[in-house]
Amino acid sequence: MQNAENRGGADAAALRGSRILLVIAGGIAAYKCLDLIRRLRENGAHVRCILTRAGAEFVTPLSVETLAGQTVHTDTLALTAESEIAHIRLGQQADIVVVAPATADIMAKMAHGIADDLATSTLIAADKPTLLAPAMNTRMWQHPATARNRARLEADGVAVVGPNDGPLAEGESGPGRMAEVPEIVAAIADVLAARSGSLAGLRVLITSGPTYEPIDPVRFLGNRSSGKQGHAIAAACAEAGADVLLVSGPTAEAAPEGVETVRIETAEEMLAACEQGLPADVAICAAAVSDWRAAAPQDQKIKKPRRGEGQSDGAPTLELTENPDILATLSAPGPKRPRLVVGFAAETEDVEANAAAKLTAKGCDWILANRVAEGAVFGDDGNVIHLLTRAEGGGAPAVEQWPRMSKAEVAARLVQRIVEALSSDAETA
Ligand code: C5P
Repeated sequence: MQNAENRGGADAAALRGSRILLVIAGGIAAYKCLDLIRRLRENGAHVRCILTRAGAEFVTPLSVETLAGQTVHTDTLALTAESEIAHIRLGQQADIVVVAPATADIMAKMAHGIADDLATSTLIAADKPTLLAPAMNTRMWQHPATARNRARLEADGVAVVGPNDGPLAEGESGPGRMAEVPEIVAAIADVLAARSGSLAGLRVLITSGPTYEPIDPVRFLGNRSSGKQGHAIAAACAEAGADVLLVSGPTAEAAPEGVETVRIETAEEMLAACEQGLPADVAICAAAVSDWRAAAPQDQKIKKPRRGEGQSDGAPTLELTENPDILATLSAPGPKRPRLVVGFAAETEDVEANAAAKLTAKGCDWILANRVAEGAVFGDDGNVIHLLTRAEGGGAPAVEQWPRMSKAEVAARLVQRIVEALSSDAETA
């Protein structure tokens, strides 16, 4: 089984040669940054650090400098001519800016565009992807102001990893612990892999949302899928430079920027739009397709019989017929089969065993499985994924467990895994 601890190869590919600007703010978790710097450098990344004044209360500039192998940037040089442009230069010379630990204070400043020291001035001047690893007391994390700031930052495109639940420095327990170092390394690799261009030249077909199967002109069979996950994947693939076709059932989600979006209602329409969209290099079926449709949808609204008109209960019988399986159809061997076909599985029990059976039954390459508990997943913003990868030669699939993530983070990680899979494909070809 693979998790954030042992994704080694995947992370190394994204991190090798990358330039990371790490902002270390003031929190007890700052000590973990020393290990973070070491791990990033082991994976071939170049790490530059800004240590805030509060951060320097927790770790010394000398230890950061020694591990990073580079001068650490602090506010003590704020008046020299060289450092006057540091806040511009540091951001320009990085591929990603990481803030760890991200305190309530620095998140609030970022959300409001406050730039009152080297770290916050650099953050506002940087036009690079930014990742936060929040760490703070549970009550601070749960305070409405922090929740607002987090939502504002995410809406601005800032990625967030953690925080985790667990014991905190003050002896309390709850959400607020900074994500563990391997989780932060993995999240950095995901953001880097999703950088513009990593899927350039590839066509990706994505299904999203529910299908509505008409019973008559006013009634339909449908489900509660929000389309959030499929749309987030479409946005992330487009961001990474892919040519994306999104085939979407009825949802409130807006068509992602730069994505060709075809809106359909029924499973049959979804299949036709997908087939028309081929060839594609990758197909990702995130839609919750209705398994059945009415065998004979009526042209006129089915009327409720008036009382005393014969039938005892007045309820009509609805005859159903099976819908085409889009994932299985796209996975079928043939010249048009995409190189990589990915399905989803929402399970209520035995997640891995059921997902493994689905992988075989559908003939796809990967399944992203999640557990649906008490109404979670559909419409939820978070997701816990098990990625099952079909083994060559028919053995048991490899399983990778992802920590709890937002649907945007799931999308970023999926892009990262696709980039890695297709590039290792190309190497072995
Ligand atoms: O069989 P089940 O509905 O659990 O399988 C889920 C996966 O299959 C999802 O990837 C979904 O998009 C896909 N699917 C499909 N067409 C169907 C049913 C499911 O593409 N008719």
